[in-house]
Amino acid sequence: MSWKAYLALCAFSLVLRPAHAYGIARSSTPCNNSPSLCSRSYDNVTYLGAHDSPFVRDASTSYSASGNQYYNSTVQLSAGVRLLTAQVQLQGSALHVCHSSCDLLDAGPLSTWLAEVRSWMESNTNEVVTILLVNGASASVQELAQQYEAAGITTSLAYTPTGSDAQSQEWPTLQSMIDSGKRLVNFVDYIGDNSDAPYIMPEFSYIFENPYDVTSASGFVCGINRPPSENGSTPTQVIAQGVMPLMNHFLYQDIGLGIQSPDVDAIDTTNAPDGGVGSLGYSASQCSEQYGRAPSFLLVDFFNVGPTIDVADRLNGVSSPVGRTSAPA
Ligand SMILES: *[C@@H]1O[C@H](CO)[C@@H](O)[C@H](O)[C@H]1NC(C)=O
Ligand SMILES: *[C@@H]1O[C@H](CO)[C@@H](O)[C@H](O)[C@H]1NC(C)=O
Ligand SMILES: *[C@@H]1O[C@H](CO)[C@@H](O)[C@H](O)[C@H]1NC(C)=O
Repeated sequence: MSWKAYLALCAFSLVLRPAHAYGIARSSTPCNNSPSLCSRSYDNVTYLGAHDSPFVRDASTSYSASGNQYYNSTVQLSAGVRLLTAQVQLQGSALHVCHSSCDLLDAGPLSTWLAEVRSWMESNTNEVVTILLVNGASASVQELAQQYEAAGITTSLAYTPTGSDAQSQEWPTLQSMIDSGKRLVNFVDYIGDNSDAPYIMPEFSYIFENPYDVTSASGFVCGINRPPSENGSTPTQVIAQGVMPLMNHFLYQDIGLGIQSPDVDAIDTTNAPDGGVGSLGYSASQCSEQYGRAPSFLLVDFFNVGPTIDVADRLNGVSSPVGRTSAPA
């Protein structure tokens, strides 16, 4: 072969190679930071959740003791958090995300926060995200739907369930949610008739929670606390009906006058991926054993400490996550 022919061949294979590599890259495109999760159904994945996601303890809130996270929802999502919870309260007659009361910590209009999530999802198209709202304002489904619409969230992004309860619901795979674009799953703890906006799902038709009001490291347990109607059932009974376990794992401390705030002093222990009683890793193992499956959701304060994402990765069997930007501990 002449050197000219050789160069031409090299150039040709250079042209070919990226196309070939692209073919491989496509089939290994990650879903929620790992290609191995694409074929898993929504209810067979463990999602790390940021408890009280918009309530941030940083300069923007003068380091409010009511803040449950050190970084905002955008940073949380970029670091791999895939469940965001928030409380909805009334600020005058407007729906805001506020901690307990809007006098304590007001993180702004609900629609503004929802728009922050939408915006992140638009730039991150292979991600399935879940929002869980605590309806402290007793808002109707119509009122909540107005906030979603104002945030630009429609049923082209919001997932609409196929069944009205866990037993009749068939969860799609992450890949099919991503392909359809309907990859934002929305739950509200207590709402009325949702037939006007069925994408806003009543949490306790699909999810159960262990207790959340825990004030000592030995107080974390895996049994059913909510919905109260299932408090008499065992987790395996409701899991057999397709109900997904949400494992609350955050600690409160009394800061006087009966006021509780997130226990930051214990956070290194509470969020530890490995360790004994009181650690996230320990509770996740205990609950997985008791449930006969891994929890669907792990809900934590100050998510970047631990780091807690390691526990979700372990439960998912993910060893080399891609596409995350971790927040400093
Ligand atoms: C997913 O399914 C596997 C196999 O049945 C199970 O071991 C694992 O705990 C499940 N994980 C979740 C989060 O459902
Ligand atoms: C979130 O926090 C980061 C820095 O921690 C900041 O750059 C960004 O503007 C914030 N985003 C929103 C929507 O507040
Ligand atoms: C269920 O309810 C009983 C009675 O109110 C309570 O003592 C128990 O702690 C509850 N179980 C859980 C797991 O919250």
